[in-house]
Amino acid sequence: MSVKRPFATPEQLRRLADAYPTPFHLYDEAGIRRTARALRAAFAWNPGFREYFAVKATPNPYILQILREEGCGADCATYTELMLAQAAGLRGEEIFFSSNVTPAADYRRAMEQGATINLDDVTHVPFLRDVAGIPARICCRYNPGGAFVAGNAIMDTPQNAKYGMTYPQLAQAYRELMALGAKDFGLHALLASNALSGAYYPALARLLFETAVRLRDETGAHVAFVNLSGGVGVPYRPGEPAADIAAIGEGVRRAYEEALVPAGMGDVAIYTELGRFMLAPHGVLVTRCLHHKHIYKEYVGVDACAADLMRPAMYGAYHHITVVGKEDAPCDHVYDVTGGLCENNDKFAVDRPLPRVDVGDLLVIHDTGAHGYSMGYNYNGRLRSAEVLLRPDGSDRLIRRAETPRDYFATFDFQDTFTFR
Ligand code: LLP
Repeated sequence: MSVKRPFATPEQLRRLADAYPTPFHLYDEAGIRRTARALRAAFAWNPGFREYFAVKATPNPYILQILREEGCGADCATYTELMLAQAAGLRGEEIFFSSNVTPAADYRRAMEQGATINLDDVTHVPFLRDVAGIPARICCRYNPGGAFVAGNAIMDTPQNAKYGMTYPQLAQAYRELMALGAKDFGLHALLASNALSGAYYPALARLLFETAVRLRDETGAHVAFVNLSGGVGVPYRPGEPAADIAAIGEGVRRAYEEALVPAGMGDVAIYTELGRFMLAPHGVLVTRCLHHKHIYKEYVGVDACAADLMRPAMYGAYHHITVVGKEDAPCDHVYDVTGGLCENNDKFAVDRPLPRVDVGDLLVIHDTGAHGYSMGYNYNGRLRSAEVLLRPDGSDRLIRRAETPRDYFATFDFQDTFTFR
């Protein structure tokens, strides 16, 4: 089993934990830039290529700005995510809007920002027409049904997933949109989550390319882009292979050459909407051991909880844990590593072999850079943590302060009914 090491050294982690109260999320700017560049290189064969980073994964405008400097746009799903994209300086075609069960206000805001709207359902054509009007450039989300290649617990199989339209609905939506003045069309699908197999993107691409040709042939629509969305995985467990993004880009290119080019559609731009692949390995949750408990099992209680990282509780997801300063010590203890929520599933790890953990030790929970902070919540009055950026030169920057009780009270303190103390 290969060893998984945090991107920050023990010295850096101790210094940061002295400067910022634990728990906090820490991000690695150099790593984020490296991954963004590798993705761009993998798709450099497609002149229109753009990554629209999935804002839901890491909704922080400082992170969006770094990605913007690397040529990425933003994929937003809600009104507030659109605001974040704007805060990061993204405009017009730099913003994609892939939502579902969309309120009118969100469509209006997406139109005002010039975002490319991705319709999740055929009934949203008249809805969008009535609430915001139909733009010249628009996308439709496809659900092919069936089981597809990479069924998984997070997304479920396409036939059981709530997203997207059937093929007949896609064709109907394209026709209705054309009649309402739309000129340039896109096609989108997200059929897997955390796909570690390099086959996912090429297989999805082939499916979407063939569907795009069929749509062009049957409706006469001009297909300008295909959005492969997110879903490329990361190795959460030691020893798992990382996705080979260059090979994935090459696999998509092959599908493009075989399915689109012969149909005279060699000008279609490829978009991605990756979240996890871009950010997960470049963030960690830094937390400290508060207590030990010995009952029927051995527990290590830490100052972070599922409110800081929900994935283990929600999906039973594995996140690797390093005890700072004990990187090379033998893993000769077995612990449940728990947070303090009044929820028995508030466990970052169950029966995990670790070196001996002492009260006061710092623990690093790996791969929390995507779908980590962003899924946080306030159960038990727990407050959301800070986010800290480790710069390429080793300096650090607080990119979101921790919540305080005043933030928690703000939503019911607005009429001065309750005194904040
Ligand atoms: N685009 C759309 C429309 C999405 O719904 C998602 C994720 C993405 C892009 C980015 O997917 P990614 O590349 O990050 O897999 N919270 C879960 C994942 C839910 C993903 C839902 N949609 C988790 O913690 O694993």
